[in-house]
Amino acid sequence: MSTIKLNNGVEMPAMGFGTWAIADGAEVAEAVKTAIECGFRHIDTASFYKNETGVGRGIAASGINRSQLWVTTKVWPTETGYDNTLRAFDASLNRLGLDYLDLYLIHWPASPSHYTDWCERNLDTWRAFEKLYADGRVRAIGVSNFLASHLQPLIDSCTVKPMVDQLEIHPGYTQADDVKFCQANNIVVEAWSPFGRGAAFKSAELKQIADHNNCSVAQLCLAWCRQKQIVPLPKSVTPERVKENLESDGLNLSENDILKIDQLPEFGWSGQHPDKVTF
Ligand SMILES: NC(=O)c1ccc[n+]([C@@H]2O[C@H](COP(=O)([O-])OP(=O)(O)OC[C@H]3O[C@@H](n4cnc5c(N)ncnc54)[C@H](OP(=O)(O)O)[C@@H]3O)[C@@H](O)[C@H]2O)c1
Repeated sequence: MSTIKLNNGVEMPAMGFGTWAIADGAEVAEAVKTAIECGFRHIDTASFYKNETGVGRGIAASGINRSQLWVTTKVWPTETGYDNTLRAFDASLNRLGLDYLDLYLIHWPASPSHYTDWCERNLDTWRAFEKLYADGRVRAIGVSNFLASHLQPLIDSCTVKPMVDQLEIHPGYTQADDVKFCQANNIVVEAWSPFGRGAAFKSAELKQIADHNNCSVAQLCLAWCRQKQIVPLPKSVTPERVKENLESDGLNLSENDILKIDQLPEFGWSGQHPDKVTF
């Protein structure tokens, strides 16, 4: 699996295995073990997914040395603030059965529609992230669903700059301005829902470009992300699809095909705008 270098020099596997909506217990443990056996070395979870215990069991059952794996989890808005975040980190680590994390993310910026002090709240949470990073408990720290308007105040007052921003990105929802902002600030972008939770598979345009490249639509979406230096996080509980997704690693799309995908009209957006969500 190829890697991408973060702004602190750490190398992160350039594609991750998503675990949203995979039930805790045997289901997620089996899915994670299978993903690792197939070749994934990067697992993405969150306290909100309520499956960290099973993810940890899957990691342990895979038999792969911990140092070969990249494990990400996230702090949920109700767990944020300085002290709460430190507690949430310990709880996540306990559930995962790990003694350090590779990447910890603020899952969503505090929403201005919910918190009048949204900016201060993000900064308090970030100070806890900086402490965890300085204490060596996590190899990289970052954010998720932060647009440029949330990132700028953080960048202006932080000691450690975020290394990653995980955003909803897929054909039909490119978030081009925010991706540009992150990449100009040396923040690696990850793509959540790289298939738009399945919407991509209904697109005749994507099918046509995939056929022309002798690949599946899933592989096309993943190659499109990776050629734009974006780390996709595909989720699948189906072993054949897990392998198919990994096999996108060798694909090379033309600039023209990448541009055609960039220019597709909007479709498949989750509808979750960080400034409007009610959590
Ligand atoms: N930071 C955030 O706020 C946030 C939000 C949402 C998601 N995420 C992360 O991003 C990950 C991915 O997003 P997602 O789970 O929403 O959706 P997704 O990966 O875009 O789509 C998953 C769907 O695609 C199917 N699929 C996967 N590979 C396929 C293939 N090769 N061919 C056909 N179908 C395929 C899966 O089916 P089967 O599983 O049945 O095979 C599943 O129905 C999540 O799991 C999570 O880790 C983060």
